[in-house]
Amino acid sequence: MRVLHVAAEVYPLVKTGGLADVAAALPPALAAAGADVRLLLPGLPPILDAVQSAKMVLDIGSAFGALRVKLLLARMPGSHLPVYVIDAPHLYRRAGGPYQAPDGSPWPDNLRRFALLGWVAAHLAAGDADIDWVPEVVHAHDWHAAMSCAYIADHLPTPAASVYTVHNMAFQGLFPHHDWAMLGLSSRFMSPAGLEFHGQLSFMKAGLKFADRVTTVSPTYAHEISTHEFGFGLDGVIRGRGSEVSGILNGIDPQVWNPATDAALAERYDAQRLDGKQRCRRALQQQLGLEVDEHALLVTVVSRLTSQKGLDLVLGALPALVPAGVQFAVQGTGEPALEAAFRMAEQMHPGRVRVHIGYDEARAHQMIAGADAIAVPSRFEPCGLTQMYGLRYGTLPIVRRVGGLADTVADGETGFCFDAASVAAFEGAVRRAIEARAQPATWTAMMRRGMAQDLSWAHAASDYLVLYAAAVRSRAETPRLAAG
Ligand code: ADP
Ligand code: GLC
Repeated sequence: MRVLHVAAEVYPLVKTGGLADVAAALPPALAAAGADVRLLLPGLPPILDAVQSAKMVLDIGSAFGALRVKLLLARMPGSHLPVYVIDAPHLYRRAGGPYQAPDGSPWPDNLRRFALLGWVAAHLAAGDADIDWVPEVVHAHDWHAAMSCAYIADHLPTPAASVYTVHNMAFQGLFPHHDWAMLGLSSRFMSPAGLEFHGQLSFMKAGLKFADRVTTVSPTYAHEISTHEFGFGLDGVIRGRGSEVSGILNGIDPQVWNPATDAALAERYDAQRLDGKQRCRRALQQQLGLEVDEHALLVTVVSRLTSQKGLDLVLGALPALVPAGVQFAVQGTGEPALEAAFRMAEQMHPGRVRVHIGYDEARAHQMIAGADAIAVPSRFEPCGLTQMYGLRYGTLPIVRRVGGLADTVADGETGFCFDAASVAAFEGAVRRAIEARAQPATWTAMMRRGMAQDLSWAHAASDYLVLYAAAVRSRAETPRLAAG
């Protein structure tokens, strides 16, 4: 099966969140399961820098208002998977994030930047961009790649089927209606049955409406997005796709996240040699300037600081939990108000709360290895990777029972779950963790259970292969010719 993955970020080159980890780890897992997999990425500066020996596959010329657009083919550093990169200097070669300018505002030309990504994917699918390799399935991730599905549907007959994965329903890629003409799509796509969403253009809907199959990154989130509470206005569209929507749980990269080989740690360890973790714990307390306290419950948070992540619950519970013996080690970046609130919490609880506002991969490993528990109190969580890193590192997750958190953490067995999005509910779960840690045999058994959990990508890869086959069959049987 030839599969093209389309994404806007990939670890370690460009990463704003878990999507990058998935784009890096799922394609090699599919290749290991026998698929012939390639990636398509926008030519953002770190990606172009990493593929300097790329060869040109197609000189596209001008597209979406950009001159000198080229399609390159190279190998991913690390996995060596073939990767197509769109070199469009005018749209992609600039300092700043993949979606936002340095001041945090979305790039004003995001419509053209990500329409181009989908348009190139559709040309690869149609066989007119690279005659040597034509995918049978185009797998598009999040709204950035979703236009692939609309362009494929518009360019029928295309032999390729399309699969769209929602990593986060909250980010939809909405643009003004009057930019419609720039997309170059047939007019039938511009209706509520197509890309229109309350008078705007929705890239997310291009995926939800026109992909042959829609997936999300955990079974529980697949159900949740069909409800008003979690659907961000698109729950009706999800319900309309019926059984064509499913959830496949992410895995984690066992090479990048392995306490037995992790070069970032003060000492490596595994389920049989847990003293190494105690040394990581002490090293973390010393490094961060936390009191070296054997009895504290050391809780870490490694997260984007946004309202999705429910970290206001952590802030609200600190005044009660710190006197109860809890230490917090927090690393994150995001909304200025949350950053400021965490900085203030650090000042109020010297030696007990330490906060690093910033993004640092090595330190994320050290914090997850050195802590006793990792808190993920999200309001919603499509999958969540850090609780799985916690499981693998013997760092018990304290999570709200939503989305992928509910699907990966077993309450009282491998971690602690709570239901209400309230300070009291979070505090209650942390207090249960304090009690459990007071019984070393119970705690160690929980750690070992979590460390033994199979979090590899192998299950997801085999589920995706079954799904791809179904998508190819349904594309052959009922070509999706028009919107509606
Ligand atoms: P999301 O994609 O919603 O942010 P995930 O749990 O799926 O949540 O993935 C987050 C990823 O980003 C993880 O790999 C996590 O370790 C990483 N991460 C988030 N914030 C930071 C940070 N400040 N420093 C280092 N890594 C971070
Ligand atoms: C999104 C979600 C997160 C998920 C990640 C990878 O960023 O917020 O829950 O783990 O995508 O699928």
